[in-house]
Amino acid sequence: MKLLVTGGRGQVGAELVAFCAARGDEVVAPERARMDVASRDAVLALVGDLRPDVIVNLAARTDVDGCETHPDGAWLTNVLGVRHVAEAARRFDAHLVHLSSDYVFDGSKKGAYVEWDEVTPLSVYGRSKAAAEREALWGCPGAAVLRTSWVCGAAGASNVPKTIVRLLRDDPTRELAFVDDQIGQPTLVESLVPAIRQLAVHRRPGIVHITNEGPVSWHEFAQAVVVAAGGSADQVRSITTAELVPARPAPRPANSVLDNTVLRLAGGPSLGHWSEPLSRLVKELQ
Ligand SMILES: NC(=O)c1ccc[n+]([C@@H]2O[C@H](COP(=O)([O-])OP(=O)(O)OC[C@H]3O[C@@H](n4cnc5c(N)ncnc54)[C@H](OP(=O)(O)O)[C@@H]3O)[C@@H](O)[C@H]2O)c1
Repeated sequence: MKLLVTGGRGQVGAELVAFCAARGDEVVAPERARMDVASRDAVLALVGDLRPDVIVNLAARTDVDGCETHPDGAWLTNVLGVRHVAEAARRFDAHLVHLSSDYVFDGSKKGAYVEWDEVTPLSVYGRSKAAAEREALWGCPGAAVLRTSWVCGAAGASNVPKTIVRLLRDDPTRELAFVDDQIGQPTLVESLVPAIRQLAVHRRPGIVHITNEGPVSWHEFAQAVVVAAGGSADQVRSITTAELVPARPAPRPANSVLDNTVLRLAGGPSLGHWSEPLSRLVKELQ
């Protein structure tokens, strides 16, 4: 399989590139300077040159609060960028796999979100990811939109395990505080990457939720990280979102648990519980 990965130096991208290359795929992961998805010309030129079988679009502004304060950057990369990538995929006959987010939902649902729940984003980031889903699906018929959540890996964007391991390195008995009024499903990059490749190989179209199993609050998840790092769960105090200092610019959904309905019903890959891959990630970060 000849694969073009945008955002291939990021958290998901770095491991996806390594995983696919190790399985014999021909993988091209241009850095932003070579193919900025915001440039239609650059995207059409490179895709036309490479003629990949599959494009995995991971390029995104993922700083949720930064998107809130600089919305044009979010629209440019997260939405217009997807329009360009979708156009190129359609024009040069590549299968498009686009990564989306649990933040397309507002969190007011009782229970987990299924693929067919209406999107109701709260933040600029969430609105940009919801708009990007339409760009991918309308711009490139047959595209896959994979919604994941609470992604944790060793490369790229910052995440809760990385932050906690860094803080505990300085002071192993340090007290931490995490919110207990936001619930979601952590997804370890180690689990996500093989599933992305499998779905790409089978060219499965449409919206697919793709997370590890096990709904938790950030407080419970932070406790699991601290315990995996050799500390005690008592080190992590629970607070509410309203108590965060400073308050975050972007609102977050209180419940962003995604039910992996399509994968369950269609016999797709199950990513399993997050706890074992989390332990491996914490050891790697340490
Ligand atoms: N992180 C999460 O918790 C989470 C949750 C749900 C869904 N997702 C989605 O999963 C995907 C991958 O996320 P991630 O965690 O791997 O993010 P990440 O670590 O922030 O990586 C994003 C990558 O996109 C690149 N990029 C940014 N703007 C670009 C542009 N204009 N043109 C080309 N490349 C650009 C970045 O390059 P630079 O290094 O040059 O900036 C970086 O390599 C994203 O679509 C994200 O929305 C993430």
